[in-house]
Amino acid sequence: MEMKPKVLVSCGKLNFPEEVAETLRPLADVTYVQGDYRRELHEAKALIGGGDIVNDSYLSEAPNLGIVARFGVGYDTVDVDACTRHRVYACHTPDVLSEAVADLTWALILGWMRRIPEADIYTREEWGKKQRGFPFGWDIKGKTLGILGLGRIGTEAMKRGKGFGVKMIYYDIVRKNDAEAQYGIAYVSFEELLRTSDILSIHVPLLPTTKGILGAKQLEMMKRTALVVNTSRGPVIDQKALTEALKSKRIAGAALDVFEVEPAPLTEELLKLDNVLVTPHIASATWETRRRMAERCAESVKAFLEGEKPPFTVPEQKNAKF
Ligand code: 8YV
Repeated sequence: MEMKPKVLVSCGKLNFPEEVAETLRPLADVTYVQGDYRRELHEAKALIGGGDIVNDSYLSEAPNLGIVARFGVGYDTVDVDACTRHRVYACHTPDVLSEAVADLTWALILGWMRRIPEADIYTREEWGKKQRGFPFGWDIKGKTLGILGLGRIGTEAMKRGKGFGVKMIYYDIVRKNDAEAQYGIAYVSFEELLRTSDILSIHVPLLPTTKGILGAKQLEMMKRTALVVNTSRGPVIDQKALTEALKSKRIAGAALDVFEVEPAPLTEELLKLDNVLVTPHIASATWETRRRMAERCAESVKAFLEGEKPPFTVPEQKNAKF
């Protein structure tokens, strides 16, 4: 009897549920793995994974691998050149999570500006004691929202900004004329973005050119009243510099879903600061969005197993056919 090709799933059943795995089972032997799965990797034809570092050394343990479907849009953990050298398709899950990430971005903005986590604790523990009033927050309307990176997610964050009545500016390496015309968002230099934003929201991928893009020098240019929001990747911010800026009140606050090291160690100084609002990398973590991400991974793997080019290869492999 011919053996079915092996598909490994390393991102867990919550992210890649059995029902989606079932859609692949007519074609493949789908196995959930965790921890050290080198033995299984040796046989595997496909990987559906989250945080795995896929580089030369990983691929050298995977002689049969033909596709890596990353459970997420960002693929900084995948060395695409190495994949191409090894004739492995690198896929991801674009588009389906943009709205969820933009929603969380706004949840963080509103949460910080209106002090929602503090208000929740106050209501449960203090309100009824009538000892002190709750401190005011700040209006959103009329503030300047600066978007760093007006790609798929930045664009969704911008669209929501229209409803909140913020003035919108952006910086990107590519000028987005349509967004400018349709939403009245203005293109500015990176320096002007830093100098004029009341809320700076980061939506760039992690690349050698964006690593540490917000460091001490850049924070120094920002308004003292500014809020930094990050739902992209932790290392785009120099976390040590941000911590210093928040401690010295060089900027007013930060709302962060992502960190330099994840999970953020409980000893991390940022987590102790009261002008910081934090969430544990949950921007795409809704039932509907995670399901669509799983389906996108399955679609790519299915196409590959049927001898087609997978539909969601990363842009660097746009013209690749292995
Ligand atoms: C993660 C993300 O993939 O899309 C991305 O790039 O960061 C998230 O949606 C998620 O943490 C699951 O791996």
